[in-house]
Order: sequence, then structure tokens, then C-alpha cells
Amino acid sequence: MNIISGFSKLSETGKMEILKRDISFTQEQLDFLSKPKEKYDDYTEIVKKLSENYISNFSLPFGIAPNFLINNKLFYVPMVTEESSVVAAAAYAAGFWSDKGGFRTKIVSTTKSGQIYFSWKGEIADLQKHFPELKEKLIKAVKPVIANMEKRGGGITNLILNENTKQLNDYYIIDVSFETADSMGANIINSCLEIMAAELLDFINTKFTAPYNNTEIIMSILSNYTPECLVECTIECAISDLAKVSGELSAEQFAMKFQKAVQIANENVSRAVTHNKGIFNGIDAVLLATGNDFRAVEACGHAYAAREGNYKALTSIKTDNGIFKYTLRLPLSVGTVGGATKVHPMANLALTILQNPGANELMQIIAAAGLASNFAAIRALITSGIQKGHMKLHLGNMLIGLNATENEKKLVEAYFEDKNVSYNGLSEYLNQLREVNTDKSIKGNHKY
Ligand code: MEV
Repeated sequence: MNIISGFSKLSETGKMEILKRDISFTQEQLDFLSKPKEKYDDYTEIVKKLSENYISNFSLPFGIAPNFLINNKLFYVPMVTEESSVVAAAAYAAGFWSDKGGFRTKIVSTTKSGQIYFSWKGEIADLQKHFPELKEKLIKAVKPVIANMEKRGGGITNLILNENTKQLNDYYIIDVSFETADSMGANIINSCLEIMAAELLDFINTKFTAPYNNTEIIMSILSNYTPECLVECTIECAISDLAKVSGELSAEQFAMKFQKAVQIANENVSRAVTHNKGIFNGIDAVLLATGNDFRAVEACGHAYAAREGNYKALTSIKTDNGIFKYTLRLPLSVGTVGGATKVHPMANLALTILQNPGANELMQIIAAAGLASNFAAIRALITSGIQKGHMKLHLGNMLIGLNATENEKKLVEAYFEDKNVSYNGLSEYLNQLREVNTDKSIKGNHKY
């Protein structure tokens, strides 16, 4: 697979031909991509089972950002989003970084956790004394449930008892850590916790007598806060190499302004949230394409951004010794087996396009998509402003909303080539075009 230029200019079929060339698709997969999905009865049958009270399907565009060089391996990154310019921005940044070493990523950690919240009216020392025995029982009770996860290299890595009676009366937590291998692990973690909670009650009832045996399990649930399931992604180049993207600024001015933009996001919550939203533009699009739980990743990412008490940017920047180094570090709990990932035909296809990554590789690809989106956004913000590119792409959506014909689209795009786009400006111009056309058609002269 090589870096490709002009991908966005190709027709849909042309793009698929490129995918066919570079990724080993079966004919069935190609047919599935190129023909209307609704024609496939089994597709609808599968999709409708994912949720409840089904009445129809809801389509979103499934696009490809090419040229993602991640740890020296090239990827076409599938993205699903309703927002125009997200895929273009990610593709633009991926292309720019592809001849500068691309995205360097590393997995910092992969631990997930779940908690059993319960009440205990006795002394903590009594619970602690029996805890080694209890721990063994709890782990033994879930052995059959985690057998598959263990086969894939995962398992339970820790189980601890926390006293929280200062926060709430009689309130304790058993905190269980998991390595879930290639699954996101929500279902398996929750199953383990519920089995363990029943075992905990049983243990307390057999070990203790009244009044100490009236323990109540308040709830047992995985935590979507996974600060120990962390990935880091970095882009780095000589500051002078930024000249290609610095617009009217010099490369040096661009790097300094970029740094200020990140510093502002670190000290100003209004900016930090939007800065991070731009990161999630890329992240969520790949999560959706691969059938992952984007709500879990978003909730966790924002909590992580606020881990020091103030909500901050998820990226950090260094501009020392003529080098521009920009890093995204965030928790990403994702899976490539389980959930909708392998069940939803389009998610399955997205994983094929990504060359069937395991969960760790998918974390790294998603982080790269997030950093690419953010780099493109900051670049636009500190040079031409965001609206120029954004509104040009949004123009297409507005034209659909105004029922523009193909010919009207061409005329409008040419007219707005060197102008700011606004909805009012667009509809006024379109009305003018239509008035002229009506006049001419009355005279029997169809121009478009
Ligand atoms: C728009 O979807 C995302 C941006 O607002 C992100 C940012 O401001 O960094 C452009």
C-alpha cells in the first residue's frame, strides 16, 4: 500500500477500486459496500436486533480518510459522522504528516475496572481479616465466565477492598481490575461483578452472624472511567517543515501561534471543551464506524481531561530546538470482538478496511484520527479561520436542503469560490439564479 493523492476527487466506484486494490476485500464485501444496504434483507435483520422498538434504519455517511501512516504502517481510516469537513480535515492532516514520520503511538496501559458497592456494618478489620479467603472465592466463582478472555490473554489482574465510610456510612467497594484482551469487556465485566456480588453476600452470611450479616449489595457495575487504559499519539517535525500548512504565517510564527492555542485550551474551559470536541470529531467517527461505544469513550475522555481538578486540553505541545512535537494522551477503551463490532456488517467491514486490528492497535488508530482532526482544526483556526473550509464543505449540505439541481450546484460553487459562504447569501444567490431561469424559460430559453 502506498500514499495516495487525489483520493477525494475519485468517484465512489473509483474509491472502492482503490480499496479493492489495497485491502483484500472479498467480492461479497465489495458488493455489500457498493449496493444499497437496504436491499440486503439479512443486513436489516441484523441491524434491527441491535436495539428495541425498531421501525426503520438511520443512515450516516461512511467515509474513508486515506494516508494514515501509524507506526510505519499505512491505513485507510473509515469514519462515520454527520458533520461535513471532519473526514476532509482528518485526511488533510494524515496526508501532511505522512511524509514526516506519520503518527507515532504507544499503548501506555490497558487495564479496565469494575466495582461492587456494598454496605457493611461491622469493623473493617473483620472484613480485612477474611479478605484473602473471600478474594480467592470471588475469583474462583467467575473462572468459567472469564475462560475465553483468559484464552485471549486477558483475565482478572487485581481485586482490592476499599473502605469509604468517611464519604458515606457503612460504604465499601470491592474494586476489580481486568485485562479484557480484544473485547471492550463491558458485558463480561458486568457478569463477573454480579456473580462476585452474590458470592460476597453468601460469604458474609456464612462467616458472620447478626447484626453483621445484613450486608446490602448496592450495585455492581463496570466503570467507564478507564484512566489505566491509556494510549499516546505523537506527531513531530522540524518547525521549518510546517511552512506548507502555515498559510500567510511563517513556519516559526505558525508553531508559536499553535502553541498559544494549546496553552489557551489548557487554561480556559470554554476553549478546552471545544478543543477536545475537535479531537472527538475524529475519535467518535472511527468508534461509530467500528461499532464501538462512543458514549463510554467520550464520558471517560472528558473526566480524564478534568483529572487534575480543572478541565484541560487532552493534547500537549513542545516547540524546543526547532522541533514541533504535538501529543495526544487519553484513555480509550475499545474492542474488536464482542458488542456490535463483529455483528454489524458495516462495523465488520470497517475492521477489514483497518486490516483487522486487535483492540490495542485500534486504540492507536483511533488516537491518530483524534490527533489528526485536532491538528487540522487548530491549523485552520490560527490561519484562515474555521469557516472558510468548513462552510465550503457545508455548502453541499445547504444545497441539498435548498433542492438545488446539479447545474445550480456547479454555478453556486463557482460563484462562492472566492467568497464567504452563508445560508442567507447562498439562498439569495440561488433565488437570483432561479428568477433568471424563470424569465428565460418564459422566453423559452433554458440555460440550466
Ligand atoms: C468543529 O466541529 C470542531 C472545532 O470547533 C474544533 C476546535 O475548535 O478545535 C473546529
